[in-house]
Amino acid sequence: MKYDFDEVIDRRHDPSSYSIKWAKDPKIGKMLGADTINDDTIAIFTADMDFRCAPPIIDALRGVVDHGIFGYSAAPEPDYSDAVIDWFKRRENWEIKPEELIYVNGTVEAMKQIILALTEPGDGVIIQRPVYGPFSSTIEGTGRTIVNNQLISDDEGYYTMDFEDLEQKCKDPDNKLLMLCSPHNPVGRIWTDAELAELARICRENDVIIAADEIHGDLIRRGLEFHPIATLADNVNIITATAANKTFNLAGLHCTNLVIKNPELREKMKKSLGHVGQTPFGIAATMAAYNDGEEWLEELKEYLDGNIDWIMNFLKERMPKVKCRRPEGTYILWMDFRGYGLSAEEIHDRIYNKANVLLEGGTMFDPVEGAGFERVCVPSPRSVIQEAFERIAREFEGL
Ligand SMILES: Cc1ncc(COP(=O)(O)O)c(C=O)c1O
Repeated sequence: MKYDFDEVIDRRHDPSSYSIKWAKDPKIGKMLGADTINDDTIAIFTADMDFRCAPPIIDALRGVVDHGIFGYSAAPEPDYSDAVIDWFKRRENWEIKPEELIYVNGTVEAMKQIILALTEPGDGVIIQRPVYGPFSSTIEGTGRTIVNNQLISDDEGYYTMDFEDLEQKCKDPDNKLLMLCSPHNPVGRIWTDAELAELARICRENDVIIAADEIHGDLIRRGLEFHPIATLADNVNIITATAANKTFNLAGLHCTNLVIKNPELREKMKKSLGHVGQTPFGIAATMAAYNDGEEWLEELKEYLDGNIDWIMNFLKERMPKVKCRRPEGTYILWMDFRGYGLSAEEIHDRIYNKANVLLEGGTMFDPVEGAGFERVCVPSPRSVIQEAFERIAREFEGL
């Protein structure tokens, strides 16, 4: 490999890291339900990679630093739009026009702004649990109502959508928006074209807007394909959030590009958003990532597949009571520990306090059906992943 994904970079002690994931912050311990976080704690809980960014991105950021002035900034056009548009054309055969792009400072922020712009207080927003926790907190925080269209799992941990329930919920005129996670965090599905088309049909027929969070779309297993929902359906009611954040490990730069093809919807969003400033770092990094990051991404995917395959084998051999399906997309594994017959608290205590490994408990994704599940993010050097899973396995040995 040209890039060294095995290198362990100290994000805990380097004063320039500012990493939330590796901070010894008791508030984070409390949030996750760990007694302490210390030098020995392995943090593999949040969707943020422990790999150094692609060299062209670092060079572009260095150029901004060397310039030495970080004033109000605007993306150079058409270069910025071209970088985004060419990426999606090249990789997903998705045609986007420059005027269809709207910049927002991050995807969670984008979801919040979509809710504020397109729904009223009290309106129902549909989500599909178990799902990325901030979907729920954003709906609650904006005074809207969470409407759950529960995903269905088979015995192997393969999740599908409950379309009958979805149709019923979409028919309720109080429910105005659906937040789609595609590929899905945490269940790892790349929804099929047929699934996405059916979801789009139901939403379109019932005037429900789809806010599609597709920021894991580049991070799929090799050999599989991801298709944006906007390429499979009428775009009248679709807004898509795209970002280089997850793909290229730029989460700390908070850059998201919405794609909205419907001009009316777009104008509503623009009006509600008002002016959104971009940082020179975000501009430079996004352009470098999309223009020059593809080779790094392909190697990253190979490395992630290796991590995931190692874990799947390890679980089979050392922790066969954990049910976990190889994710089709994302670098996230959704692990069902219920086979051990322990309470969610006991499972949690063994992992977070005894093994001293930080994951995220299943109830952060689904307050009801998430108990007994744990989510792990695995974009870390293999040695770190191996040590974490060895430690966890030791705490469940003999059970
Ligand atoms: C599905 C999903 N959406 C949004 C985010 C956060 O995105 P951002 O950092 O751009 O707000 C994450 C981060 O883990 C995520 O998994």
